[in-house]
This record gives sequence, structure tokens and C-alpha cells, in this order.
Amino acid sequence: MRLVETIGELRAEVAEQRRAGAGVGLVPTMGALHAGHASLVERARDRHALVLASIFVNPLQFERPDDLERYPRDLERDLALLERSGAQVCFAPVAKEMYPDGGPIVSVDPGTIGATLEGVSRPGHLSGVATVVAKLLCIATPDAAYFGEKDFQQLVLVRRLVRDLSMPVDVVGCATVREPDGLATSSRNARLSVAGRAAATVLHRALLAGSAAWRAGRGPGGAETVAAQEVRAEPLATLDYTAAVDDRLTRLAAPAPVTGVTGPFRLLVAATVDGVRLVDNVEVPS
Ligand code: PAF
Repeated sequence: MRLVETIGELRAEVAEQRRAGAGVGLVPTMGALHAGHASLVERARDRHALVLASIFVNPLQFERPDDLERYPRDLERDLALLERSGAQVCFAPVAKEMYPDGGPIVSVDPGTIGATLEGVSRPGHLSGVATVVAKLLCIATPDAAYFGEKDFQQLVLVRRLVRDLSMPVDVVGCATVREPDGLATSSRNARLSVAGRAAATVLHRALLAGSAAWRAGRGPGGAETVAAQEVRAEPLATLDYTAAVDDRLTRLAAPAPVTGVTGPFRLLVAATVDGVRLVDNVEVPS
């Protein structure tokens, strides 16, 4: 696997592969890679002759400087995982390469998607994500880009980004990879204490309890309420939100309940567990 650190080198690499007829798949990441990222690379490998992964801890999407500073980084380990998973090129630029002037003047406004859920809890985060993803897509010009479903709002945003800006990229959402006890794999899990790691399973338990409430006929609102109760019962967890949404992020239960919901829909949860903010979601079938 080749490590590429500049935009120019990456463009040259892609151009050469394209001349040889290779299709290109991109897996954008912020490093601290885990089995979830490996599954994205493997999925891309099945479809494209050239699989690129990017590792860039994007300062624009951190609303708190301490969160950016504490974000786990281990390039050597990440490169080994990418190589094992089948990526051919890793693009790992420094911040100055991506933002030579310190930050962009022109950035992507996530619109109404940025004004709900994560956008409320983390102001500026989704604009930072949309801006860096737009940049990465312009730099790598992939045929398809792969994103995990765990960050469901991010996936909805990226789908909308490429649609609204007419980018010729297929956005592929990939199923969340879970630990045996149900915890969704996440780079942030590395920051959990032993007690926090045990408590963090509450997110998935809450989603299962919420889904069961839906199956019992309690509607999207019931699913949200039951999931929220489950998180609140965990002493190390502080609930941010639970939300039942459709695939455009329309809230199904609040502020006014949408009637006649038949599913499927997504049940989302966000909570801070022992100082680490985690998100998760499941599809609730009809
Ligand atoms: O999901 C992530 O790791 C990041 O938000 C992404 C998509 C790589 C953009 O920085």
C-alpha cells in the first residue's frame, strides 16, 4: 500500500490508475481505525480496482478544541489495518495541505440537516463534515464513496451533498459493525474507561428496547421514550437525545407526531458515557 501525503500526488496516482482503466472507491476516515472501517474497505475492494482510504482528523468538524486534541491517532496501526483490508493507497495529509490558509473561507452549509440532532448538539460539526467530504470527493474523484451507517445523519448529509451539488459519486452506506456485546465499533470507544466501556452497551440496549416498544404497537414516540428511559437508567450515561426519523431525518414523533407511520424508520440515540460522546442507531422494521 502506498502512503500519499499531498493532493498533487493523490491526483497523479488516481490519473495513472484511471488511464489503466481502474475504477476508484474512496473510504474517508479520521483514522483510529477499527473493524467498521475494515468492512468499508472490504466492501469497496469488491467493486473497484483502486481502493483509496483517507486519514485526516478534520479540525473543522470539532466544535471543541479539547475533543480535537484527544481524538485518538495511531498512523502506523491504521496503515497496517488498511493494508490488511485491501486498500492500495492511503491519503494522509497534514492540516496545512488541506487548509493552507488555516481554514476555508467558502464552506458547505448543511442547511436543515445541520439544524437538527447532531447539528444542535455540535454546532458547526456537520458543516465541517460536509466541507471536508466535498473536498475529499473533489480531490480523489472516486466512482463511489463508502460511509458507515452508525453516523446516520452524516450519511444522509453526504447523500444530499452529492445530489445537491451534482457530484458524480455513488454514496454507499454500510451496516454498522458491532462488538459481541452490541456496542457499535467507533474510534471513540478507545477513550472509554473500563467502567465506561461496560456502560456504553446501554446505547444498543436502548435501541433494542425502543424497537420492541414499536413492535408492541407504541409508535415512533413510544420507541423514543422507551429508548430514552433505558439510557437514563444507566448511571454513567447522560442522554442527549433519542429520535425516530425517516431516511430524510424527518422526526416522526416530535414536535408533532406524524400519523400513519408504518416503518421502517431509524431510531437514533446520542449519549455521553463516562465523558465520551457516542451515537448509534438501528433500523426499525415495519
Ligand atoms: O466519519 C468520519 O470519520 C468523518 O466524519 C469523515 C466522514 C471522514 C469526515 O471527516
